[in-house]
Amino acid sequence: MSAPPVLLFLGAGKKLGTQVPAVFAEAGYKIAVVARTPKEEFEKRGYYQVQADFNNPESIPEVFAKVKENVGTPTVVVYNAVQYTLDNPEDPFASLAPENVSRFHSAVAVNGTTPLIAIEHAIEAFRSLPPGTLGKSFIFTGNILNHSQFKNRLCFGVGKTIAAYGVRFYYADERSDEGLPVMREIDGLLAGKEYLKIAEAQEQLPWLYTYTAESGYKDFGEKDYLKTVDSNESRFLKGGR
Ligand SMILES: NC(=O)c1ccc[n+]([C@@H]2O[C@H](COP(=O)([O-])OP(=O)(O)OC[C@H]3O[C@@H](n4cnc5c(N)ncnc54)[C@H](OP(=O)(O)O)[C@@H]3O)[C@@H](O)[C@H]2O)c1
Repeated sequence: MSAPPVLLFLGAGKKLGTQVPAVFAEAGYKIAVVARTPKEEFEKRGYYQVQADFNNPESIPEVFAKVKENVGTPTVVVYNAVQYTLDNPEDPFASLAPENVSRFHSAVAVNGTTPLIAIEHAIEAFRSLPPGTLGKSFIFTGNILNHSQFKNRLCFGVGKTIAAYGVRFYYADERSDEGLPVMREIDGLLAGKEYLKIAEAQEQLPWLYTYTAESGYKDFGEKDYLKTVDSNESRFLKGGR
């Protein structure tokens, strides 16, 4: 016995939020998307939309309750929301000063705490599904910041690292073939295809799922990681996420 496939996509915007659910819809999934603002595009596609602000991790129980009631129990959950503001590379800890610290709290909540609360709810949902159901996977959209410190991404990187520590389903991270962050060039269609592959794999694949357009999953080992990246290098000034 199996349940009908349902994708719950948390943090749905113009890029991955549009392309990843489209790949799952094509594969027969019902789609529920969540963001702070409902979007006409999703309305047109017939997706079920929930409004929530992931600055508040306590928004998660209501999201799952609404989706279960109106769409069905999620069989795959993707957490894609991002809170992204750059810190001053000359003085990154200024972001923790009393007048700025709300930025840090928000980055930790949206990128770190809320996805962990969402994992707990996803597990509870998966346990309630019939044993033969495909999926039962949680995928977090990550980036290189759980490995490398960027001087101007203190708040952002702390949040992603919290999520990476807790996510032992999948932390998906698109890279260039050399292992560099793809930043603004992240490919939503590729993410959709890789996420569907991960979600429906019969066996657990590597949880730290670094992938490239050329090779799919690619293990970069510890190469070049755990070093502080000089944010003045031009390729890292692009402002990508
Ligand atoms: N591997 C890499 O090098 C790489 C490169 C680029 C991006 N990424 C990752 O890809 C992910 C998303 O990128 P994307 O380009 O798809 O972003 P996107 O199009 O902006 O989608 C993210 C959406 O999340 C929603 N969101 C943000 N804050 C929220 C909050 N507090 N509560 C609820 N929803 C919220 C926003 O919609 P609303 O404004 O309507 O709430 C936003 O549109 C991020 O996790 C990012 O770190 C990785």
